[in-house]
Amino acid sequence: MSAPNKSYDPVEVEALKPEEIERMRDEALAAFAAADSLDALQEAKVAHTGGTSPLALANREIGALPPHAKADAGKRVGQARGAVNKALGARQAELEAERDARVLVEEAVDVTLPYDRVPAGARHPLTTMMERVADVFVSMGYEVAEGPEVEAEWFNFDALNFGPDHPARQMQDTFFVQGPKGADSDGESGVVLRTHTSPVQARTMLDREPPVYVVCPGRVFRTDELDATHTPVFHQIELLAVDEGLTMADLKGTLDHMVQSLFGADMKTRLRPNYFPFTEPSAEMDMLCYVCKGESVGNPDRPCRTCSSEGWIELGGCGMVNPRVLTACGVDPEKYSGFAFGFGIERMLMFRHNVEDMRDMVEGDVRFTRPFGMEI
Ligand code: DAH
Repeated sequence: MSAPNKSYDPVEVEALKPEEIERMRDEALAAFAAADSLDALQEAKVAHTGGTSPLALANREIGALPPHAKADAGKRVGQARGAVNKALGARQAELEAERDARVLVEEAVDVTLPYDRVPAGARHPLTTMMERVADVFVSMGYEVAEGPEVEAEWFNFDALNFGPDHPARQMQDTFFVQGPKGADSDGESGVVLRTHTSPVQARTMLDREPPVYVVCPGRVFRTDELDATHTPVFHQIELLAVDEGLTMADLKGTLDHMVQSLFGADMKTRLRPNYFPFTEPSAEMDMLCYVCKGESVGNPDRPCRTCSSEGWIELGGCGMVNPRVLTACGVDPEKYSGFAFGFGIERMLMFRHNVEDMRDMVEGDVRFTRPFGMEI
């Protein structure tokens, strides 16, 4: 900026003449009015209010005026710039309002339009539940092992210490694919649809050297009629650990860990003596009711539907692998011991998610599966 010049006549400074200032202001106002979009307005803004706009340049000239002329010129330029900024703000608001109104129309979603997409399906909750349980053990270092659904009678019963006349063999009403072995058969093994996942225990032990740590999910079959609480095809998950020095305490700790992983850190299990031919000792395993945590027992004011106010929910069977089974599967019972357990997935799904009718699980209706989602 040049130094004040006392002999300078303001009237001679072209850019500060009143009509010049008015012209600059009017041009700016006209440019804003003509801007038909926010982009165009932005350009007009730079041109008419930016650092090199005519009004900004005129403003700079004020400094060079003699003191007596400064106030007058400053007032004129200031008023013009004020008017320009006001017009700019008004136009900006106008254009923004137009844009918002347009976007509302252009981007509107008609939520009443008919639904024409193929609805997303969902994984079956039995599958996700099995994977979830298996994952608990995989994270502890167990491997997933599988066996055939059409199984030799030997694996399903004999290898597991069910004698030919053993009552348990009749207890499990079995689909025979090829003749039952029975007490008076010629010794040939029949072929069955496996009645439990326990034969995978025998197959695994024959297949690999100890230590063995496997989890075996799968489908099993019994000749039950389909009703609210029975289905001839259902799912079990089996666990087998064979190693040196395993005890019932390892079994108990493993069961507790499983229910804590699946139902919460304050969960626990309890064992009740029972009999299975392939485990000795054997036990029925219950888990604490995850809903009432046992508080409903003897407490009529707080009944629990999940455990019928028993405080415990029966899960399945377990025990230490019978040494006879170890021997039949080529494992030295003097050196190794093992524990096993097995339970039904349908039952777990029923009490965990209040599914009241097992038929819902087999009918394949997506309205049943969809609420369970895509959990992997
Ligand atoms: N297989 C048995 C059943 O289907 C359940 C079972 C009981 C599995 C005890 C085991 C076990 O591994 O140790 O009823």
